[in-house]
Amino acid sequence: MIAFHGSSPTVLRKMSPITVLKVILFLELAFLANGASSNFKHYIVYMGEHSHPNSDSVMSANHEMLASITGSVDKAQAAMVLHYTKSFRGFSAMLTPEQALSLADSESVISVFESRTHSLHTTHSWDFLGVKSINQYNGLSMKAISDVIVGVVDSGVWPESASFNDKGLGPIPRRFKGKCVVGENFTLNNCNRKLISARFYYKGFEAENGPLESHNATFSRSARDTDGHGSHTASTVGGSVVKNVSLNGIARGTARGGVPNARLAIYKACWFNQCGDADILSAIEDAIEDGVDILSLSIGPSPPQPSFFSDSISIATYHAFRKGILSSASAGNDRLPRTATNVAPWILTVAASSIDRDFDSNVHLGNSKTLKGFSLNPLKMKKYSRIVNATTAAAPGVPPKNASFCKNNTLDTNMIRGKIVVCTIDTILDKRREKSIVVRQGGGVAMILVDPLAKDVGFQFVIPATLIDQTEAEELHSYLKTEKNPVAKILPTATILNAEPAPRMAVFSSIGPNIITPDIIKRTSHSFISPKLIKILVVQPDITAPGVNILAAWSPIATKATAEGSVGYNIISGTSMSCPHASAVAAIVKSCHPSWSPSAIQSAIMTTATVIDNTGMTIVKDPFRSSTTPFNYGSGHINPVAAVDPGLVYDYDSNDVIDFLCSTGAGPKNLKNLTGEQLTCKKHPTPSYNLNYPSIGVSNMKGNVSVLRTVTYYGQGPTTYTPNVENPKGVGVAVKPNTLVFRKNGEKRSFKIDLTPHKTSNGNFVFGSITWSNGIHRVRSPIALNVISI
Ligand SMILES: *[C@@H]1O[C@H](CO)[C@@H](O)[C@H](O)[C@H]1NC(C)=O
Ligand SMILES: *[C@@H]1O[C@H](CO)[C@@H](O)[C@H](O)[C@H]1NC(C)=O
Ligand SMILES: *[C@@H]1O[C@H](CO)[C@@H](O)[C@H](O)[C@H]1NC(C)=O
Ligand SMILES: *[C@@H]1O[C@H](CO)[C@@H](O)[C@H](O)[C@H]1NC(C)=O
Ligand SMILES: *[C@@H]1O[C@H](CO)[C@@H](O)[C@H](O)[C@H]1NC(C)=O
Ligand SMILES: *[C@@H]1O[C@H](CO)[C@@H](O)[C@H](O)[C@H]1NC(C)=O
Ligand SMILES: *[C@@H]1O[C@H](CO)[C@@H](O)[C@H](O)[C@H]1NC(C)=O
Ligand SMILES: *[C@@H]1O[C@H](CO)[C@@H](O)[C@H](O)[C@H]1NC(C)=O
Repeated sequence: MIAFHGSSPTVLRKMSPITVLKVILFLELAFLANGASSNFKHYIVYMGEHSHPNSDSVMSANHEMLASITGSVDKAQAAMVLHYTKSFRGFSAMLTPEQALSLADSESVISVFESRTHSLHTTHSWDFLGVKSINQYNGLSMKAISDVIVGVVDSGVWPESASFNDKGLGPIPRRFKGKCVVGENFTLNNCNRKLISARFYYKGFEAENGPLESHNATFSRSARDTDGHGSHTASTVGGSVVKNVSLNGIARGTARGGVPNARLAIYKACWFNQCGDADILSAIEDAIEDGVDILSLSIGPSPPQPSFFSDSISIATYHAFRKGILSSASAGNDRLPRTATNVAPWILTVAASSIDRDFDSNVHLGNSKTLKGFSLNPLKMKKYSRIVNATTAAAPGVPPKNASFCKNNTLDTNMIRGKIVVCTIDTILDKRREKSIVVRQGGGVAMILVDPLAKDVGFQFVIPATLIDQTEAEELHSYLKTEKNPVAKILPTATILNAEPAPRMAVFSSIGPNIITPDIIKRTSHSFISPKLIKILVVQPDITAPGVNILAAWSPIATKATAEGSVGYNIISGTSMSCPHASAVAAIVKSCHPSWSPSAIQSAIMTTATVIDNTGMTIVKDPFRSSTTPFNYGSGHINPVAAVDPGLVYDYDSNDVIDFLCSTGAGPKNLKNLTGEQLTCKKHPTPSYNLNYPSIGVSNMKGNVSVLRTVTYYGQGPTTYTPNVENPKGVGVAVKPNTLVFRKNGEKRSFKIDLTPHKTSNGNFVFGSITWSNGIHRVRSPIALNVISI
C-alpha cells in the first residue's frame, strides 16, 4: 500500500466573529503543540462561481486579493501557486495559517482549506494477473462509440504504447476543447486521434513537496507517464486492440480497452504515486471545460472519507455532475469495513474483484508431491534445489521468528546460499518483492512465501518465487520434517482460465458503509448537526469491477513494479484497476444514450449488476471465500451488456442532491462550500433515504419507514413491471403499487416501499433487495437497513 504522506488537513472557513475566536484558539493550541506556527502551508482558496469575463481578469483579481493579505504584490506573486478560473474561481498559495484565516474572513471567499495529498489506488506490492477487458461491445456501432471522450486524471501516459495508436479513428470531435501541451520528452506528435489531449499539473505538488528533481526518481516534466499507473488505467478504459501481448509470456492474448474506439484526454496530476488536492482540482476544472464525457479517477483520500464540503474530489466532481459528466472513482484499497472513500452520491464508487483467471506457479517437491502456488513468475528453475526454512537460517543474534519474514539483515547468507528459502508474512502490508531481493542478496536461488492472505493477488519477484496458503504450508512442513535433504523446484506461471468461483471480492477492496468525518471546524461549528461520524448513503461502494491481476499498457521505464525488466504491458491490482473498467462501461452507456444524465448512467450500471458468481452462488470474498454483503460490492458485479439497456432508470439531479445533503444535516454554509452558491434548505427536506438513488439504505431506522422511488421507462411499446423482493431479516416489505404499467418510452412511475421491522438489528445492518422485472429486464436495487427500534 502506498502510505498517505500528506499532513492531516487543517481547515479554515469563513465564519462569524465568535466562531473565529474559538477556532483561532483551537488552531493556536494545535500549532503550539507542534511548534509549526511560522510554517507556510499550501492552501486552496475557493470562491465559487464567478462572473469575470476571462481568465486574465480572474487572475489579476486573485493577485490583488492575495496582495492585500501578504502586504505586497511581490509577496503575493511569490506565494501564488495555482489559479482556478473556469468552472469556479479560486487559487492556491503558500500561506501562514494566520494569512489563511484572514483570507477566509474575506467577503468573496467561500472556503480556505489546506491541500492534502491523495494516493493512487494501486499498491505497488499488489502485482497482478490480466484481464482482456470487456469483450461484449462488438455488436455496437463503433462510430457512435468513437465520439465518446474519457478524461483520465492520473500519472500521465506513455504515448508510444501500441494501446494508444489511433488506427481507424476519425477526426477529433469538434466540440472538444482540450489540447496537447508540450513538455519534457512530449511533443505535439505524441497526441493523436486516440490521445486527443494531454495536460500536466505539478505546481501544487512542488509547492508541498519541493521540486520534482529532488525526489531521486525518473520523471518527465510533461504528460509522459514514468510510473506506469496512468498508462495502465487509460489503456484499460480506451486502449486500442493490440494482439499478442503479455507480461513476459504470462496472460498472453489480445489487449484492449473497454471502449477501444473511445478518445482519451490525459490529465497528469500525480507524481511518484502521489496526487495533491490543488493539482487534482486544476485537472478536473480543465477536464470539465475541455468537454470530456466521463471522468475516470483512480485516486482518493486515505480513509475516513473527508466531509464533502472540504474535499477537493467531492467538490470538483460535483461541478462535473452539474455539467452532465459522470465521475467514476476507486473506493480504495484499505480492505477494512468503513474505509470506502470517494463515496459522494454523485460519484460512481468502484470496488475491486477478481476475474476467472488464475496464475499458478506450483512447487514440485522431491517426494513428487505438488504444492499449489500462485505468482507471476516467468522464470524457469533448471534443477531441484535444497529448501531451507528461514527460521533455521537466522543471522547471528536474530530470533528465528524475526528471520521468518525474510527482512533485510535477518538471514545468515551461509545458510541460504544456493537454496530455496521459505519465508512468511509479518503483516498483510509487507513488501513482498523486497523479500525476494533480500533472499537473492544472500545468495538464495528462489523463495516460497507462506502468504494465506494475499495468495490471490499476483506478485512479481526478482527470483523464482511463489505464494502458498496454510494447507500447502503444512504439507511442506511435514516434508521438511521427514526428509533430511528436502528439495524442490518452482515452476513458471501457468495461466489458468475458467477459474471458479469468479468473481471474488479482492482482499484489499475497501468496504462500506461509508463514514464521513466532519473536519476539525465542524466540531466547533453550529452549522452541522452531528458532531460524530456521519453515515450518509449507507450502501457503498456502488459497484464492483475487475481489479485483480489486470494486464494493461505500462511505461517501459517504470521497472520498480516489475520483476526488474522493462515491460510494455504489466499486471497489477487495485481499485485503481477496477475504476477504469467502470469508467469504460459508463462511456459505452453514454455513447448509446448521449442525452442521459450522469445519474441515469450510474443507475443503468448499478441496477443491472449481478451478485451471483460463475458457480451460481452469491459472490464470496478473498482470501477465505467468506460471505459478503452489499458493503463489499454495492449493487454487485458490473454487467456491461445489460447496462446498455437497463429497462428502467432511477434519475436524480443537483437539486435532489442539495435536498439530500440538507436532510443529512448540511446547512447553507456547507452548501456554499460545495456549490459556490448561496442556497437554503427546505424547511422539511426530503429524508435522505428518498434520494432517487439506485440502491436503498436507511441507517437509523426507527419503526416503520416508507421509501419512495421513481423510475423512468426506456424501451419500445407498452410493458408491465412487477417487483420481486428479498426481505431483509426481520423486516416486512410491501411495494405499492405492485405493478408498474408503461405505455411509451420516457414515462415515469413512482412507487413506495413500506418497510415494517419486527425486531431491531442490534447495531448491524440487515440486507435485502427489490428487483423490478418485465420478464426481459431485471432492475435490481440492494436494500440495507439498520433497525434501531420497531
Ligand atoms: C523519452 O521518450 C523516449 C521515447 O520517445 C523514451 O525512450 C525515453 O526513455 C524517455 N525518457 C524519459 C526520461 O522519459
Ligand atoms: C536524494 O538523494 C540525495 C543524495 O543521495 C539525498 O541527500 C536526498 O535526501 C534524497 N532525496 C529524497 C527526496 O529522497
Ligand atoms: C506472439 O509473440 C511471441 C513473442 O513475444 C512470438 O513468439 C509468437 O510467435 C507470437 N504469436 C503470434 C500468434 O503472433
Ligand atoms: C467549508 O470548507 C472549509 C474548508 O475546507 C471548512 O473548513 C469548513 O468547515 C467548511 N464549512 C462548512 C460549513 O462545511
Ligand atoms: C525481533 O522482532 C521484534 C518484534 O518485531 C523486535 O522487537 C526485536 O527488536 C527484533 N529483534 C531483533 C534482534 O531484530
Ligand atoms: C540491506 O541492507 C544493506 C546494508 O545493511 C544494504 O546494502 C542493502 O541494499 C539492503 N537491501 C535491501 C533489499 O534493502
Ligand atoms: C518454519 O519454521 C517455523 C518455526 O519452527 C515453523 O513454525 C514453520 O511451520 C516452518 N515452516 C515450514 C513450511 O515448515
Ligand atoms: C407499521 O406498519 C404495519 C404494517 O403496515 C402496521 O400494522 C403497524 O401498525 C405500523 N406501525 C406503526 C407504529 O405505525
